[in-house]
Amino acid sequence: MAKKLFIKTHGCQMNEYDSAKMFDLLGEKEDFELAKSEEEADLLILNTCSIREKAQEKVFHQIGRWRKIKDKKPDLKIAIGGCVASQEGENIIKRAPAVDIVFGPQTLHKLPELYNAKEKTNINQIDISFPKLEKFSHIPVNGTGEPSAFVSIIEGCNKYCSFCVVPKTRGHEVSRTIEDILNEISILADKGTREIHLLGQNVNNFKGTYRGEKSSLAKLIELTAKIDNIERIRYTTSHPHEFKDDLVEVYDRVPELVSHVHLPIQSGSDRILKLMRRRYNIDKYINLIDRIKSIRPDMSFSSDFIVGFPGETNEDFEATMNVINEVKFDESFSFIYSPRPNTTASEMPDDVSIEEKKERLNILQNRLNQLSFGYSRKKVGTVQNCLVYGQSKRDPGQLQGRTICNRIVNFSSHDIDLVGQMINIQINEALPNCLRGNLQN
Ligand code: SAH
Ligand code: F3S
Repeated sequence: MAKKLFIKTHGCQMNEYDSAKMFDLLGEKEDFELAKSEEEADLLILNTCSIREKAQEKVFHQIGRWRKIKDKKPDLKIAIGGCVASQEGENIIKRAPAVDIVFGPQTLHKLPELYNAKEKTNINQIDISFPKLEKFSHIPVNGTGEPSAFVSIIEGCNKYCSFCVVPKTRGHEVSRTIEDILNEISILADKGTREIHLLGQNVNNFKGTYRGEKSSLAKLIELTAKIDNIERIRYTTSHPHEFKDDLVEVYDRVPELVSHVHLPIQSGSDRILKLMRRRYNIDKYINLIDRIKSIRPDMSFSSDFIVGFPGETNEDFEATMNVINEVKFDESFSFIYSPRPNTTASEMPDDVSIEEKKERLNILQNRLNQLSFGYSRKKVGTVQNCLVYGQSKRDPGQLQGRTICNRIVNFSSHDIDLVGQMINIQINEALPNCLRGNLQN
């Protein structure tokens, strides 16, 4: 009988991608099937996130809940992967002895080996090393034909923003070759995928080779667009410092590239940006936005914001609000600064009270929500070309698509054959987080 696997994923899209690969790998090499519930599983995997303290604390709460299942089912194995695993290593097992296996973002391909070793020897297995790109040559590319699929193109990060733990947990930047990436995309496209979402912490520093020569994200985008049946291309995350001219120009040549970019600004204050070690200032950021808009006037921009960075003054916060009003960001993410282990910002004096930080976050999020709702309202009355993603989770009588500017659109239809197709939808209502419309004949 096939063994059962249950994977819980915290955090970013890179983790979602990695979790899907863990399932493909364990399915192929060890004949695992997906369990319907945690109680049914023989192996429980938690793919963790350590970007903020709260995310990290969720890990031990989750292990605590799984330990109760293991008490009743001693053969059950628990494996912890992702960034907390990478950061804490064997400390995880010291704090939570119910854990059998600890592996990092770059060693997930070793899961079958680690699992078997634990089964045979009953010795706990830990491997959080950083073998460069080794995982990609071990992971099968299955593709389930889902309309939109992630493809990792660059792993790790070299930027060392002063607040961020990622360079420590995911290692240094290393790019896959373009041939390897295109091969994965072709397999996905053959299975029915229509949208490719290129992933990395810092995709615009992609330096993968093509035919033996160092290449770029712009080149990769052009080659991806040429693959049969690929109708849309997205990428996340890009860093404002490395957004080169060839990437701006590609918006002119590749209509498959969507009119939305996630370009985290973090703060609107040059002083704070410097302390964050972001390597750009507000003038440079605005200039980049203007250059992209001169090619694609309907382009929308979303961002990440950190409020309450150590020493952030009212003036710094005002500068962030000013830049939000100037750029008019669309659906964005915002967080209260969270000190992370072994980061330089965690040693900076911080005299801003938590109440003040919460208040600033509240003001900022209200404004971002207003702007985002404004965007949605402007779409009412227009016809939007959408890729149909699937059924709405809340109502099976509704299908869900996405516009080229990244808005979710719900519309009434029971025609499941529309999933994976590009269709036109007449937008007739704007809700805070999505649009509603009718299928156009
Ligand atoms: N590679 C991406 C960001 C990855 S982390 C980039 O270049 O921007 C995702 C977001 O989490 C960041 O953009 C930042 O806004 C937030 N973040 C990272 N570290 C944080 C911390 N210590 N406290 C609060 N938010 C943080
Ligand atoms: Fe983190 Fe900055 Fe890299 S936010 S992921 S160190 S670009």
